[in-house]
Amino acid sequence: MSNNQLQTEHNEEAFFINGYSILKFRETIVYKNFIKVCTELFNSNEINDWKDSYKNTKDFVHRPDLFNDIFLNFLQDQDIVKKINHLTKQDLFLEDLYIRKVFPSKNSYTGLFHHRDTHFYNSKIRTGRFPPIYKLIFYFQNTINQVPQLALVPGSQLNFKKNLLLDKIFGYFSKDLVISSNNKQCIFFNTMTQHNVIPNKDILNGPQMRIFYNFCSRAQLNNLPHNSSLHEKFKLQFY
Ligand SMILES: [Fe+2]
Repeated sequence: MSNNQLQTEHNEEAFFINGYSILKFRETIVYKNFIKVCTELFNSNEINDWKDSYKNTKDFVHRPDLFNDIFLNFLQDQDIVKKINHLTKQDLFLEDLYIRKVFPSKNSYTGLFHHRDTHFYNSKIRTGRFPPIYKLIFYFQNTINQVPQLALVPGSQLNFKKNLLLDKIFGYFSKDLVISSNNKQCIFFNTMTQHNVIPNKDILNGPQMRIFYNFCSRAQLNNLPHNSSLHEKFKLQFY
């Protein structure tokens, strides 16, 4: 990653143009506890704690914030909500929070090509959430070498085609930003940006784990009513 890209952390105009920002962590006591809890979860193979999700993935069955307060406290400790509200110029709310392990496999569990979580292809009927939501993903690093996890096309949220084939061609010929596992940072991005999961091909790396925080506007919280206790908890802590 170039220095230029690192400078986007607090720059709302760079975020608007690029569609993503890398947020660096401060090494606080809460941070150390967060990494410790992540390490314990990563090492936990308790069969009742993980359920099959996409192909070659397993999701933690418990709501992370009910399992341990650290998952919301970490956002507070690192000023993450403040930072992402600054980047988007919105008051964002936590819509969903989940933890996923990805096991070695030849293929990406999201498919061969890049995708946008929200798009407007040929029928012009929108697919996905509107307005597009934002994802904050922490790719836990459990190996000495960082493992590539996510490919994303910077700026593609502002350059979308209504034709699926043209959009796929655009993604195919665009240069990806590659995000790797890293315990010192996370990525925050607009989910209309073209992206894809990089397959965890090397069996020697073992499983990989990531924590997803989905953020949306207050009105969009109604789309996930089964998470209302998480929404209330988040509101109490941050607003
Ligand atoms: Fe996606």
